[in-house]
Amino acid sequence: MKRTHHCGQLRKDDVGKTVSLTGWIDSIRDHGGILFVDLRDREGLTQVKANPNSDDANFNDLVNSLKPESVIAIEGEVEARDEANSNDKLPTGAIEVQVTRLVVHNISETPPFPIDDEKGDKVNEDLRLSYRYLDLRRGKMQRVMKLRHLASKAVRDYLDGEGFYDVETPILFKSTPEGAREYLVPSRRDPGYFYALPQSPQQFKQMLMVSGIERYYQIARCFRDEDLRADRQMEFTQIDLELSFIDREDMYALVEGLMKNVWKEALGMDIPTPFPRMSYQDAMNRYGVDKPDTRFGLEISDFSENFKESSFKVFSGTVKNGGVVKAFKAPTLANVTQGEMKSLEGIAKSLGAKGLAFIKVEGGEWKSPIVKFFSEEEKETLSKELSLEEGDIVFFAASEWEQACAILGRIRLECAELLKSRGVLEIPANQFNFLWVIDFPLMSYDEDEGRYVATHHPFTSPVPEDMDLLDSDPKAVRGQHYDLVLNGVELGGGSIRIHQTEIQRKVFQDVLAIPEDVVESRFGYMLEAFKYGAPPHGGIAFGLDRLVAVLAGTPSIRDVIAFPKTQKGQCLMTNSPSMVTDRQLKELHIETLTLEEETAE
Ligand code: AMO
Ligand code: AMP
Repeated sequence: MKRTHHCGQLRKDDVGKTVSLTGWIDSIRDHGGILFVDLRDREGLTQVKANPNSDDANFNDLVNSLKPESVIAIEGEVEARDEANSNDKLPTGAIEVQVTRLVVHNISETPPFPIDDEKGDKVNEDLRLSYRYLDLRRGKMQRVMKLRHLASKAVRDYLDGEGFYDVETPILFKSTPEGAREYLVPSRRDPGYFYALPQSPQQFKQMLMVSGIERYYQIARCFRDEDLRADRQMEFTQIDLELSFIDREDMYALVEGLMKNVWKEALGMDIPTPFPRMSYQDAMNRYGVDKPDTRFGLEISDFSENFKESSFKVFSGTVKNGGVVKAFKAPTLANVTQGEMKSLEGIAKSLGAKGLAFIKVEGGEWKSPIVKFFSEEEKETLSKELSLEEGDIVFFAASEWEQACAILGRIRLECAELLKSRGVLEIPANQFNFLWVIDFPLMSYDEDEGRYVATHHPFTSPVPEDMDLLDSDPKAVRGQHYDLVLNGVELGGGSIRIHQTEIQRKVFQDVLAIPEDVVESRFGYMLEAFKYGAPPHGGIAFGLDRLVAVLAGTPSIRDVIAFPKTQKGQCLMTNSPSMVTDRQLKELHIETLTLEEETAE
């Protein structure tokens, strides 16, 4: 029996037609011997009515055997429901189908959790992931999968229209450690040799530019062995692109068009362009992060100047040692509970703060363990700069610049959550604040490694005006790097690249201090390629999972990946990773150590 309609399709106009439907039994209700079955497929629900009191004993038995989640096909006549029994919440709610033929494809056992949007949401995530095939049946997950498809399609359509070629690049790559830890794949043919899974197609896409492809894109799988979080998976998907003969302005315009198309096709929304831009310095100073959520204020200010001579030594001492004193005001949050305060302090301390100084404005007074050390002038400046009012609370961080920013950046986000939970701050679900963050430093000094490391990656070109500073003051060199941020999520990042052998070699060897032989073995082919006519080029990559999560309004990218890994890196449905046989290991020239042996080594 082939379906004539899907389960979201039939309307009053179809009354009288003989139709066939296929799908899953969403629910069964027994009304005095007549069964009302909600039949479900990808597109919707239709109520079908089966009467097991017919002349056909076989049919009666079949009807009586039905259970939720079983897969059936039915044939029958579309009937109008009377007014009282209509359901306006359902697009098919005005009709039902009287079953005349029934085929049972597969009877379902009772599922381990309800296949239901709301009840399913409350089910433990591990259980849902163990039975992901059932979890994905829920309407909510089906909508997310559709959204993801629409977003990918909008990307492909747009980039095709802009002259991009979709080119695949290898998954078995070579080890080029920089950035995250890699996954290694042993070579059977060459004992002791390994492939690495790519962290991104970065090097290949640059080679494609040298090849004259001019405009490349790929919806590419990337692999990074990092600590997993709500916004991080070990394998994830990038919308990856690279173009020749462009500058940063071209890239901004292209990406704004791309996002416009995705929002239009996936959500039917027109998003305004161009996107605002903010320098890395500004983002850090005002929001305490390089991916500011600009949907709310709570902006951070600098009070180093105000406190540099303060008798509060925590502040003046920090400024004397080259650090900063920063603060922001959370309006109406002086009513923060002790528990909330403790948790805020814990967060600040986990980021290296020695404490989290605060001032509460309550009953017309400043309540705080530290104001007694402040001069009148210091108080007045604070009061004026922050426009302090009854009920406000101010948080301070005194530390080295980056750390002070990071601490208040986190506390700011936590305060936003507290204000949301109190109903003071409301953020509409359909507010999308895109933001370009630009003018990143090309590199930063890594104290642990005792050398400079690339902020983005070592292929990023310095800003032309700063090229001379490469030797004299590497920290001051800005990179031609841009990040696209959306509602506080780093959606993507990219850069204009270096395309000259000498500059690339200089960055690797002189600035990043990678030994010459290591440069040769890892990147030699690239330096060679740039000798044979390399066009100026640049690109960007977006986290598709993160993008869809924002579209779907969920904080976890696991919710928008069909078969994600848990925080512990496991696939609970297939039970991976798993042990392999000694024979497999031998073939790969690998011996494993037990944990004891490893610690003994
Ligand atoms: P980058 O490392 O910034 O750049 O990655 C680009 C985007 O990929 C997403 N992303 C992740 N998503 C989920 N899980 C992860 N573990 C994960 N890691 C990164 C983020 C991020 O913004 N080759 C460069 C791009 C370029 O220069 O063109 C690159 O990979 O959304
Ligand atoms: P102390 O004088 O060390 O007891 O600190 C006084 C107050 O300042 C306490 O509330 C601490 O939590 C806070 N505090 C201490 N060090 C810092 C810092 N570096 N930044 C912000 N607050 C701090």
